[in-house]
Amino acid sequence: MTLLGIETSCDETAAAVVRRHDEGDGAFRGDILSNVVFSQIREHAPYGGVVPEIAARAHVEHLDGLIARALDDAKLGWEDLDGIAATAGPGLIGGVIVGLMTAKGIAFARNLPLVAVNHLEGHALTARLTNRVPFPYLLLLVSGGHSQLLVVEGVGAYRRLGTTVDDAVGEAFDKVAKMLGLGFPGGPAVEKVAREGNAARFALPRPLMGRAGCDFSFSGLKTAVRQLAEAQGDLDSQARADIAAAFQQAVADVLADRASHAMRMAAPSMPLKARRLVVAGGVASNLALRERLEATAGAEGYELVVPPARLCTDNGAMIAWAGAERFALGLTDPLDTGPRARWPLDAGPRTDAA
Ligand code: KG4
Ligand code: ZN
Repeated sequence: MTLLGIETSCDETAAAVVRRHDEGDGAFRGDILSNVVFSQIREHAPYGGVVPEIAARAHVEHLDGLIARALDDAKLGWEDLDGIAATAGPGLIGGVIVGLMTAKGIAFARNLPLVAVNHLEGHALTARLTNRVPFPYLLLLVSGGHSQLLVVEGVGAYRRLGTTVDDAVGEAFDKVAKMLGLGFPGGPAVEKVAREGNAARFALPRPLMGRAGCDFSFSGLKTAVRQLAEAQGDLDSQARADIAAAFQQAVADVLADRASHAMRMAAPSMPLKARRLVVAGGVASNLALRERLEATAGAEGYELVVPPARLCTDNGAMIAWAGAERFALGLTDPLDTGPRARWPLDAGPRTDAA
């Protein structure tokens, strides 16, 4: 099964071709035949964040060319495809419309089935493409818009254990980067300067740490960073690095604490000796956080699985793969499927009234 995947929900315009092989007895394998990503960073950088209208226009400008390149790189023609997958939400609605309408146009013109993919499901299932992880597994989904702990029971079957009560982790990284004058996008910039910093120089709070359950909160931490930065006055590069390191350490502590609660909560529903914690979403590309979660997972008897960084940040392969997983189960979507700005992963079967 070979699918084209289209991703346009935020500031990456992306297209990819992915093949899913069924190897019998539930075994499967995925191949990425091509994966092209155009990052709009330069378009948004002057504004210090993603501007939705600029993003939508840039998707319109670049998507056709990227799709042609994805097919070219894969050395395939339209006739070699079994279906078209596109992000149908959640995300910035202008961009989602561009990608979904393009996919519908192709599906109609080439008489191919359409798979309307939830962007979060794309992140959630990537570890199956990269590491062939079987269901069920525990998922820590940490991106620019989401921070969640879920049990992934199957395609379309998610049980949420915890979520953020305010900001997403990636959003906190982006805001802290802005406060420290590190530019945009924030996550990689904070990680880079944090390497030169002393995390112990400043004390920052660890919101919700030690509390029951596995919800997150990051807005208090973000405010504490702002107050700390303001109290320091003019920041030299060492102060910036030390604040970034302290912030990243606080995030690591909180994620480790919340994830270990989730691992305990999920343990009874996980196969013994095959308990896995998968980390996905843009923030999963942070090496310091990976290392910390590796240790935490080990202590709870879980194996940590993190896809390679380029497949953690937004890309077309994750959408093509989620599309292929749905397609393999006969889950395709009609051409009047609408785009959705909001679309929780654990919402159950889609109803447009939701
Ligand atoms: O999954 P993603 O590419 O887009 C969304 O669906 O949101 O995630 C983007 C987020 C941004 O907030 C970005 O700052 C964060 O992931 N991010 C990182 C790192 N790389 C990207 N955060 C921390 N450390 C990183 N190395
Ligand atoms: Zn994403």
